[in-house]
Amino acid sequence: MSVVPSAGNGKVTVPSILERKSGVSSQNLSPAKITSLTAYDYPTARLLDEAGVDVLLVGDSLGMVVLGYESTLPVTLEEMLQCTRAVRRGTRRALLVADMPYGSYHDDPVEAVRHAVRFVKEAGAEAVKIEGGERRMELIARMVDAEIPVMGHIGLTPQSVNAFGGFRVQGKSAEAGEQLLRDARAVEAAGAFSIVLESIPRELAARITAELKIPTIGIGAGPDCDGQVLVIHDLVGLSFGHKPKFARRYADVGEIISRAAAEYCRDVRQGSFPSYEESYHARAEQTAALLAQRK
Ligand code: KIV
Repeated sequence: MSVVPSAGNGKVTVPSILERKSGVSSQNLSPAKITSLTAYDYPTARLLDEAGVDVLLVGDSLGMVVLGYESTLPVTLEEMLQCTRAVRRGTRRALLVADMPYGSYHDDPVEAVRHAVRFVKEAGAEAVKIEGGERRMELIARMVDAEIPVMGHIGLTPQSVNAFGGFRVQGKSAEAGEQLLRDARAVEAAGAFSIVLESIPRELAARITAELKIPTIGIGAGPDCDGQVLVIHDLVGLSFGHKPKFARRYADVGEIISRAAAEYCRDVRQGSFPSYEESYHARAEQTAALLAQRK
């Protein structure tokens, strides 16, 4: 199930992600920015891994972009595990991080660690991501103690959508900015190896990035983070509804799929699909017998 990391084979690992912190590496003062995208299935994982993406995140955004829910809250542990297994099978080089879904780490910390262990043991994840800052300190430390690398996530944490009253940019007041700074410090102090900063002002993300020793990975947090993450469906034009301004679209796969489906329907209706070459054919004697039976 898992791909064993070994030094020098190009495999992205937790230590190699830590080395990508700007200004930390002894050899290179500006390491290349960390690239991360979400993936939820085998073919996408293969394509992104082969394209050189550093971190594949099985995000609980799965609930919105694949399953069609209005938030990430209904996503289950079993759904996340199943997608993580599929992504594992398609991933060789990238670091595989799985999101812990809402409800899987919010109650009993012992149960939360048991759930995180399932991602590693049964699904081949190399790290888990959990949302929240100061109030997750103890939990992050427990997971790290259980040999599970943790990626933190603060700012617009989608699992807090009801508490926030919607998907809104966070940290816009001085007070809210200070709280996010405390949250980032807490996540680092608890032992996380990296932290996602989502939908916060660029200036605040730059301040957090300058202060932390672990890499920051931004989404809607400006260009000063140590890396960037996007939802793959936004990147390739497969998402519907509101498009956040940071979600740059690199391709319009939605348009390609729509066009292909419309052409297929046309060909079937016109009788031009399948063609002679796209059909299997009986041997001559069998054809004769079949024709004779029709009379
Ligand atoms: O679920 C997800 O896709 C995420 C990223 C947006 C960071 O958490």
